[in-house]
Amino acid sequence: MLESIWLALTFFLPVPGCPTGYLGPGGIGDLGKYPNCTGGAAGYIDRLLLGDDHLYQHPSSNVLYHTKVAYDPEGILGTINSIVMAFLGVQGLISVAFTKISENEGFIPVNKNLWSISYVTTLSSFAFFILFILYPVVDVKGLWTGAPFFYPGMNSILVYVGHEVFHNYFPFQWRLQDNQSHKEHLIQNVVATAVWVLIAYILYKKKIFWKI
Ligand SMILES: *[C@@H]1O[C@H](CO)[C@@H](O)[C@H](O)[C@H]1NC(C)=O
Repeated sequence: MLESIWLALTFFLPVPGCPTGYLGPGGIGDLGKYPNCTGGAAGYIDRLLLGDDHLYQHPSSNVLYHTKVAYDPEGILGTINSIVMAFLGVQGLISVAFTKISENEGFIPVNKNLWSISYVTTLSSFAFFILFILYPVVDVKGLWTGAPFFYPGMNSILVYVGHEVFHNYFPFQWRLQDNQSHKEHLIQNVVATAVWVLIAYILYKKKIFWKI
């Protein structure tokens, strides 16, 4: 609902003297055509509801684009999206509440076949958590290149298509002693993944990449 409000106001609210849906800096930006349109609907709503005197007077757009109007980077519309951002950050807590930290006993258990909301919040909170660990280690500090996961990442389409075509064949699959055994399935999946990482590594070395 919040995001719908933000999208509707940002792209459909008529702003006097400005193009509807304007996202630019105003001033000398856009060849100086809309000097007082800084921030589009976001700037307009703040100036209308809060008044010029209650807005931040030295926005960063002033430096590069020589804007004259006040513009608040912590304005009303931006606050809507900062709430959405905080929401993304608390997905782990939402999962804790829905699942009661249990495998199957919660109010809404994690269920991939239903794409249950707890499945979505749990998986995306894991993704955020992994990004939170990897971003400083790989991108900022350069302590790890991301290998060997880097190689399948460079050929993700090829690995995906290859898996779809060959997943019924050895060495990606073989007859299991006990088809119900999680342990045997896990071993098979780890081996299949390792083989694809190895294939991706060889293709990387040979500079073969599939892209769209
Ligand atoms: C922009 O606003 C200033 C006052 O803040 C005014 O003098 C100027 O005429 C306005 N420019 C346009 C194009 O509306």
